[in-house]
Amino acid sequence: MKYFITTPIFYANAEPHIAHAYTAVIADVLARFHRQQKDDVFFLAGMDEHGNKVFKKAEEAGKTPQDFCDEIAEKFEQTWKNLDISYDKFIRTTSEEHKKGAQFILNKLYAKKDIYQKDYTGLYCEGCEKFITKKELVNGECPDHKKKPIVVKEKNYFFKLASYLPEIKRKIETGELLIKPEKRKNEVLKMLEQKQEDISVSRESVKWGIDVPFDKKQTIYVWVEALTNYITALGYGEKGEKAELFQRYWPADLHLVGKDIIKFHTIHWPAMLLALGLPLPKQIYAHGFITVSGEKMSKTIGNVISPNDLVKRWGSDAVRYLLLSQFPLGEDGDVSLKKMQARYEADLANDLGNLLQRTLVMMKKYEVEPAVDNPADTFDFNENKFTEHLNKLEITEALAMIRQIITDGNKYIEEKKPWELAKDNLKECRRILEDLHFRLKLVGSLIQPFMPRVSQEMLKQLKTMDPEPMFKKG
Ligand code: MSP
Repeated sequence: MKYFITTPIFYANAEPHIAHAYTAVIADVLARFHRQQKDDVFFLAGMDEHGNKVFKKAEEAGKTPQDFCDEIAEKFEQTWKNLDISYDKFIRTTSEEHKKGAQFILNKLYAKKDIYQKDYTGLYCEGCEKFITKKELVNGECPDHKKKPIVVKEKNYFFKLASYLPEIKRKIETGELLIKPEKRKNEVLKMLEQKQEDISVSRESVKWGIDVPFDKKQTIYVWVEALTNYITALGYGEKGEKAELFQRYWPADLHLVGKDIIKFHTIHWPAMLLALGLPLPKQIYAHGFITVSGEKMSKTIGNVISPNDLVKRWGSDAVRYLLLSQFPLGEDGDVSLKKMQARYEADLANDLGNLLQRTLVMMKKYEVEPAVDNPADTFDFNENKFTEHLNKLEITEALAMIRQIITDGNKYIEEKKPWELAKDNLKECRRILEDLHFRLKLVGSLIQPFMPRVSQEMLKQLKTMDPEPMFKKG
């Protein structure tokens, strides 16, 4: 089966922080899991490079917007490399293929008369890159960015969103378009009960963007343009509608997003796809928000954590594990260096690291060879349940199952005390160590999508039977 998974494309206005890494790691675990299942995986990541927000940051830095975007994109790509994010393609919205694709899409919608022009005055939040209503303001400011919106008076093109809403609602209700977790689905259905305005698809005053193909005085609204990346990256538009990658991978099996951008992905994007006559993504999953030591991450507060600093401290695999195990997937949660260090020591250095070391050291000492099969059938693991968890994006539950094998393994050693058995019942001592070896091999293979390097190292040591310490304490 094919499996097409995407992350949001990140704004090229600042360097990557741990919330970006969080999304990328979740997507990577799923991509690696599906590759392990022998699925034909296509994992898409990338950058959202147009719009005033990026333009202004480039100006502040004294650079051309393109140079600025090039630098930020390189930093993201390097960071993903440091974290072993195994994307198949990294789309940049300043690339020619995306420009051509986005223009192709706009032309098609215009030809279908799904796009029309009107004068428009509205409040615009540059932080969100979207129009905002008076009702949404708190003390006259955007609640997310704590900034006053600007008044925008322009001639804009609009997309006839309303015509597609009933069909979207039906598809969400029937599960044809899955939105997870359930609470997000309910949120979206509530939005659909309220009146939705048509969406603006162009901006007259924004110069850093892709030209509207049928009106060169305007650029394509950055959100509309950004959403199209999920198909322009597959060659849709630039290579026509029958582009090879597009035929092979569309519709997306999963758009992974943060909860703040759910409306764009569950309402605006599906409406555009319906207008284009294309199938909808199968699933949209919205994860929660990360705070750092109880506060929103921000440059002003100075609490932005760089994933690269974490990798320097703990190594890429540990960082992947730590990001995923601070709080349940789908919920909001808080992280801190202190909590991550504690978990590193407890789960990785102590529980996993020790179990592997102790087992291998004893196997060497008591001359035990690894068994081929589960040696005594004393250990039972429900692998189907594990697979089902990951198929249902229940990453927290899947990780808990792996952790359980490790905790049980350490308990087993404490209870059975193989070093004592070695004195008068060497056979039983060996059987227990074979059993532990079997459990560790299982952990080594199950953990592969989460910690690919640790998995490889564990499986190597379990084969060579030469213990080497894996997680340094410090
Ligand atoms: N460029 C748009 C996405 C376009 S997708 C067609 C965008 N970019 S972003 O860089 O601002 O955010 C990208 C993702 O990071 C979003 O999914 C957002 O939810 C996530 N996060 C940004 N800050 C976050 C936290 N503090 N915690 C968790 N995720 C958050 O939006």
